[in-house]
Amino acid sequence: MKRIIGNWKMHKTVQETVHFLEHVLQRLSPEEVYLAVPFTAIKEAAAFGIHVGAQNVSHEPEGPFTGEISGRMLKDVGADFVLIGHSERRHIFQETDDMVHSKLLRAHQVGLKPILCVGEREGEDREAVLKRQLEHALKNCDEELALRLTIAYEPVWAIGTGKTATPEEAARAHAFCRNMIGSLFNKEIAAQIPLLYGGSVKSDNIVALLHQTEIQGALVGGASLDPKEFVKLVELSKSVV
Ligand code: 13P
Repeated sequence: MKRIIGNWKMHKTVQETVHFLEHVLQRLSPEEVYLAVPFTAIKEAAAFGIHVGAQNVSHEPEGPFTGEISGRMLKDVGADFVLIGHSERRHIFQETDDMVHSKLLRAHQVGLKPILCVGEREGEDREAVLKRQLEHALKNCDEELALRLTIAYEPVWAIGTGKTATPEEAARAHAFCRNMIGSLFNKEIAAQIPLLYGGSVKSDNIVALLHQTEIQGALVGGASLDPKEFVKLVELSKSVV
């Protein structure tokens, strides 16, 4: 089963979240809906029985960290997964590879499933960036964490730009990530980790991307905000086996 995960970024109030879910759940079952919503909407979204994620988590468990939010707090309001190392966190908010690594450990410790985001910026050496980001994030991680991990390959130049990686290009990047995971853990684990593509995914390009066997799903920003488009993406993903 291919998976579509919406990343709403800094969009939607509680009321807008409820309206969105009332609409999409007329067409989809709650188990098919995966959304990383703003912190303020997690509790209400979780009440619909969907898979709810946060878009960030502190690398600290608790303490004097003004403005941060802990993994325990996210679990407490019903989050079951969390995006870690999204390029907007890395590049706008200066999250380092070390912070990404600590966040991954912290999320796992409290039982949040981590979705680790990786990807190169325009003009960067893709494989060198993926290697660095994966090695740093996953250093000394145990197999139990690896087996709960999802990886999202999101080339930064494709995010919000309307430019998508070609399906073949995305598949090559995914194969590279899977090989890296194979060498960091082992081949059996690498074969089990879902790899999602993100970057300007829409209903008119999703099918070609998902036809690549290396691509197990998509992490969708802008197109996940519109309930009709979101339903379409999930329905199209179900048509690809
Ligand atoms: P867009 O789908 O808006 O390009 O965003 C992708 C993304 O950043 C998902 O995490």
